[in-house]
Amino acid sequence: MTRIFSGIKPTGHLTLGNYLGALRRWVEVDQHQADALFSVVDRHALTVEHDPARVRRLSRQAATLLLAAGLDPELCTIFVQSHVDEHARLSCLLECTATDGEVRRMIQYREKGTQARAAGQSVRLSLLTYPVLMAADILAYGADEVPVGEDQTQHVELTRDLAVRFNQRYGHTFTVPRATHPPVAARVMDLQDPTSKMGKSHDSGAGIVCLLDEADVVRKKIMRAVTDSGREVEYDRATRPGLANLMEILAGCQGGNPDDLAGVYESYGALKKDTAEAVVELLRPVRERHAELAADPGYVDKVLGQGAERARSVARPTVDAAYRAIGLLPA
Ligand code: TYM
Repeated sequence: MTRIFSGIKPTGHLTLGNYLGALRRWVEVDQHQADALFSVVDRHALTVEHDPARVRRLSRQAATLLLAAGLDPELCTIFVQSHVDEHARLSCLLECTATDGEVRRMIQYREKGTQARAAGQSVRLSLLTYPVLMAADILAYGADEVPVGEDQTQHVELTRDLAVRFNQRYGHTFTVPRATHPPVAARVMDLQDPTSKMGKSHDSGAGIVCLLDEADVVRKKIMRAVTDSGREVEYDRATRPGLANLMEILAGCQGGNPDDLAGVYESYGALKKDTAEAVVELLRPVRERHAELAADPGYVDKVLGQGAERARSVARPTVDAAYRAIGLLPA
């Protein structure tokens, strides 16, 4: 059976980008078709300036939202990364497999490092080693597929390189995974700056729709989205990024194709209105279910406890095999 692994990091409130780019497919497709594991990858949230209480709160909220969106613990495994030691055990072996040059080339490291320096903050060493930990997340589970948004492609490519290199040097140990993306909305852009990704780290921004935003807030953000000054509604990501983003969001909500929307709308206003309503309806059941689940933290803890146990049992044999293969004396 195909094995799937993916994760979401609790650095901010989950966004429409997370939902359309990843979470929705985990719910609708992946958990039904594969042995799927999904993790709140909390150690990744420590790679930038963080407030411990906030990370704890956001980790619980992210786990609750995964369930609210429809991940079913009877069908898949849901757990918190730091509850399973195998991620840390394996990432230190992969740090002996990756090179300094290849991790420094990662786009996210360069962008986030630049942001931290501009804010007068130091850059944590863990920001540099982050993609190696991400590779460990994936390789520990022998995942064949990694369903992610477009922004994670480079990290999954690095994961593949490390798996191949380790296997060549020390004998076959890891499955070489591949990234999969949704057909549309694999890169949802910020509504106020459609040339940058909608990211959860700036979650107070007017350009970011959060999964738990009230319906009226969602409407307001989408109605105020930046578009260009043209009049025709046509789909062109290069020259009309704001408009194309709205069309992708609407097509993503409806399960359609943004190109097909071009002939349908005569004005930007009508497109915005339909997009706003489609997003409100898409998120309504998630928000409602989140409120129910948030009132029952014992249930969420139970799911996470059982998930961590299953995750450990899947990861341990592979990580033990990697320890032996690389030359460490068995305990
Ligand atoms: P994270 O937490 O930033 O995002 C979680 C998932 O949501 C996708 N995503 C988007 N998709 C479309 N448009 C957007 N604007 C958008 N923003 C986010 C991401 O591509 C991702 O699939 N490094 C990862 C977390 C991670 C991981 C892993 C993922 C750690 N270990 C192992 C897969 C496998 C990250 O920062 O995702």
